[in-house]
Amino acid sequence: MGRVAVVTGGTRGIGEAISMGMQEAGYQVAAVYAGNDVKAKEFSDKTGIGTYKFDVSDFNQCEAGIGQIENDLGPVEILVNNAGITRDATLHKMTPEQWAEVIQTDLTSCFNMCRVVIEGMRSRTFGRIINISSMNGELGGFGQANYSAAKAGMIGFSKAVAREDASKGITVNVITPGFVGTEMVLTIPEKVMNSIVAGIPVKRLGEPSEIARGVVFLASDDAGYITGSTLDINGGMYMI
Ligand code: CAA
Repeated sequence: MGRVAVVTGGTRGIGEAISMGMQEAGYQVAAVYAGNDVKAKEFSDKTGIGTYKFDVSDFNQCEAGIGQIENDLGPVEILVNNAGITRDATLHKMTPEQWAEVIQTDLTSCFNMCRVVIEGMRSRTFGRIINISSMNGELGGFGQANYSAAKAGMIGFSKAVAREDASKGITVNVITPGFVGTEMVLTIPEKVMNSIVAGIPVKRLGEPSEIARGVVFLASDDAGYITGSTLDINGGMYMI
């Protein structure tokens, strides 16, 4: 049996492609989702991948959810924190609720899930944590002070945990996707979208599978010497 991999937000968008890519690479995948039962059922029927419904922004639900996954499949060895939302508004219009919801769902979730699995990974001296941040956490997205702060926070968080757990066989890395053709990106107003695509050096949106291939690589044994790194997959839109 393959290693157990948990993918949050794993039934839609980039997460769906990650779940499928990991399954193809031989992992036993658990796809976590929060709300969309119809899409989760479609995903599960299509792929045969088990889905688990819980809210990653709630620590107690993460503990219970991971407990269930470990009962069903075995110890979690790979964790992909992909779940995320946007509540875009320029700062002068942003509400405290829009701020808090994005920080809680995109960043605190990362703490919650990592905190629940880290002790097991440390005791088994193996683990792969891959956090899906965003290019907008590096460059700052217009209308996204909340999202950019959360996604930048994931990068600092990942480096700290990478440092703490490197000697325990655990790697912690970040992928920063640029604009990928998912439901989230397709909600951007058309006139804004046109100017965004014009500014991408490769002149197109990314494919979810192009992010998934990065995850599969970072999860593999071949990537054991890579930790605390940030892999930009953004069509050249932001180069550090
Ligand atoms: N860069 C420069 N100017 C921008 C801009 C951008 N990215 N986005 C909007 N503007 C400009 C608009 O063109 C407009 O200018 P004019 O008045 O001169 O026409 C002005 O800002 C106000 O825009 P709106 O009329 O749309 O104002 P609004 O308050 O209704 O909405 C907004 C503002 C919420 C920022 C909206 O424009 C929007 O949703 N923009 C897209 C935000 C975005 O890029 N989100 C990324 C989602 S994808 C993602 O997050 C995935 C990832 O990780 C990369």
